[in-house]
Amino acid sequence: MEKIIITIDGWSSCGKSTLAKQLAAQLGYVYIDSGAMYRAITLYFLRNHIDWTDDEKTNEALNHIELHFEYNDKSQQSEMHLNDENVEYMIRDLVVAEKVSEVATIAAVRTFAVAQQQKMGEQKGIVMDGRDIGTTVFPEAELKIFMTADITVRVERRFKEMYQKNPNVTIDEVKNNLEMRDYIDSNREVSPLRRAADAILLDNTNLTMQEQLQFAMDLMAEMKN
Ligand code: DC
Repeated sequence: MEKIIITIDGWSSCGKSTLAKQLAAQLGYVYIDSGAMYRAITLYFLRNHIDWTDDEKTNEALNHIELHFEYNDKSQQSEMHLNDENVEYMIRDLVVAEKVSEVATIAAVRTFAVAQQQKMGEQKGIVMDGRDIGTTVFPEAELKIFMTADITVRVERRFKEMYQKNPNVTIDEVKNNLEMRDYIDSNREVSPLRRAADAILLDNTNLTMQEQLQFAMDLMAEMKN
């Protein structure tokens, strides 16, 4: 089968990147985490005290940002590099998570990120996860999945992940952050989080990782027929 583009969109912390990584590994595709790009831009803005409510300052700052993914043999995954610095670990911090949705509402930021994402898909054979991948970045993608899961399950999953890095983090902080991001991501003006009309819904509240992969592989198999 010819290589295709697979998009995975959905709410925060519902397992998009887990499924995207599983699928990419299974199919020999490249996995691209579009959220990491918005997180790296946010990190740059925070570090350099950029006032992102000011269009001129934001545009000027974007001229100084170079983003790319680099494969790390040790972690066996592609990691986000911001101006040649590996920021993969830092961009997962709550400090970045608290501001990223706000930064991702800015039209110039989205234009900057989307153009690069579209370039990465030119050769196909990619799985990209995010919020607007099936609607805006690759509206013509061959397979689109929209993921969801119960909020309690999502909070639990993200809390476990964050607690390993920072035992001071609380369940409430994680819950508030997820709810705030879901609200901003789905209510912003420019390409809000939406299920594309042709996206297949996957609720993984009660699915194991293996089951969710099987669900997606079955969709791939159906496409061949
Ligand atoms: O997938 P994530 O949680 O790492 O994404 C972080 C934030 O980036 C998310 O809250 C909204 C924004 N984002 C976006 O607006 N569009 C995307 N395609 C991916 C992420």
